[in-house]
Amino acid sequence: MSEPTEQLPTWQHFIGGTWVEPAEGQYFDSTDPATRRGLYRAARGTAADIDRAVTAAQAAFEDPRWRDMSQTRRGHLLRRLGDLIAENAGELALMESRDNGKLLREMRGQLTTLPEYYHYYAGLADKIHGSTIPASDRRVLNYTAREPLGVVGAITPWNSPLTLTTSKLAPALCAGNTVVIKPSEYTSATGLRLAELALEAGFPPGVVNVVTGFGPEAGQALVDHQGLAKISFTGSTATGSRIAAATASRFIGSTLELGGKSPNIVFEDADVANAAMGVVAGVFAAAGQTCIAGSRVFAHRSVYDELLERVCARAKTIRIGDPLDDTTELGPLAFEAQRDKVARYVDLGRSEGARVLTGGAATDGGLGGYFYEPTVLVDVDNSMRVVREEIFGPVVAVMPFDTEEEAVRLANDTEYGLAAGVWTTNLARAHRVAARLEAGTVWVNTYRAMSPMSPRQGFKTSGVGVEHGTEAIREYTRLKSIWINTSEEPVSDPFTMRS
Ligand code: NAI
Ligand code: MG
Repeated sequence: MSEPTEQLPTWQHFIGGTWVEPAEGQYFDSTDPATRRGLYRAARGTAADIDRAVTAAQAAFEDPRWRDMSQTRRGHLLRRLGDLIAENAGELALMESRDNGKLLREMRGQLTTLPEYYHYYAGLADKIHGSTIPASDRRVLNYTAREPLGVVGAITPWNSPLTLTTSKLAPALCAGNTVVIKPSEYTSATGLRLAELALEAGFPPGVVNVVTGFGPEAGQALVDHQGLAKISFTGSTATGSRIAAATASRFIGSTLELGGKSPNIVFEDADVANAAMGVVAGVFAAAGQTCIAGSRVFAHRSVYDELLERVCARAKTIRIGDPLDDTTELGPLAFEAQRDKVARYVDLGRSEGARVLTGGAATDGGLGGYFYEPTVLVDVDNSMRVVREEIFGPVVAVMPFDTEEEAVRLANDTEYGLAAGVWTTNLARAHRVAARLEAGTVWVNTYRAMSPMSPRQGFKTSGVGVEHGTEAIREYTRLKSIWINTSEEPVSDPFTMRS
């Protein structure tokens, strides 16, 4: 049941360090997907709000308080922001859990590592610098400087809003940019809270701004704004492709982290019990709503039955329910349309000839919410849409193979290239297969490991550019080459040949 809109707490845009009424005065409701109850109202941003935010971010970028701030101080502020997030971890975890249905337990886990991303970039802030180049003419001094870009637009999704926003915000601020965040319309709250904490940490007003609203309205207006220096986006490949086209036509950069259909390969020499847990964690954690979900499993024919048995046995006992309850293992999908999309894909799989070994039905979780059972599909192959397209739900397709060569070929037979898992006890094979997989991240005998220190990149249609690690700084800076004539010699006439 939806509560009357009037009683819901209201969030405005966060622009220039203050709460700002949406230009057109409109708001939209955000709901708890576990219970369908209304949670809060968020401002429905339009082009006028985006313009106001980009203008504030441009002013902050030019303001000496930010432009001339020492890099040491920038690092100090990032460290303080990380600390503030740790101090407010309980509130942030609950907020995001209620907004997108993620398990509160999982959110608490995310919140213990989230400050590390700010601390990592805090340590990097005073290590960004250019170099001196020994130009061929020794009378000329040539050096480079790594400069911030300007206003960065960050468009983020709903599946892990705090973490995925942080992957953009921390390096962008570390490099000296200012930021306008447009969170997903399904999860507006934690991005706003993050911006508020950034102000509290000491970032000058206008350095971090948030405009909430819908993709085709606020998101599109941000992408189209001429004041932007760069877009950093995480979400669907379809929207990413549109953003890539729009930014390319204006010659500004974009970092894109997009979809996946990642393979998890279980070889005959694997520890099958471990591999089964890796498969379950890879696709049923976060109800499968992760870009890195290991949604295609290839198992060597000799271990295929045992693996299926173990995966299905665990899938059947996964406890579906209230994400706030610590004994729950699977929460809801983040909103009704996402649950319906998952259901449609499983039905499509059935009509394509797939057999549902376990799961295959929607449920309200006893709470009236948007749940879907952990689902295992067999009798599938790479020609089926259910195996080719990103479902973004708790659905795994399991297929047998006979040789290593075949496993690599099947795993790479996809438009995506985000991540891959390899399960083997053969060291040589682990390295050999890792080298041949077309994926930006390869995990061997583990799945889902992540660190602010480790760069990640999507291959093929899974993305452009690098997030995390020192490499991410390149995405948020530009390189300037400066030439200084150090000689006292007169500048020669350009029309006489130099000796
Ligand atoms: P989406 O890619 O449309 O949304 C992501 C963000 O982009 C949101 O903030 C949205 O408001 C914004 N956006 C949408 N249209 C835009 C436009 N024309 N211009 C600028 N910004 C725009 O994805 P959505 O609709 O939330 O989910 C649909 C599917 O996308 C999911 O079912 C899933 O398959 C995939 N997805 C993948 C993610 C990943 O991490 N790989 C994350 C979220 C969704
Ligand atoms: Mg919500």
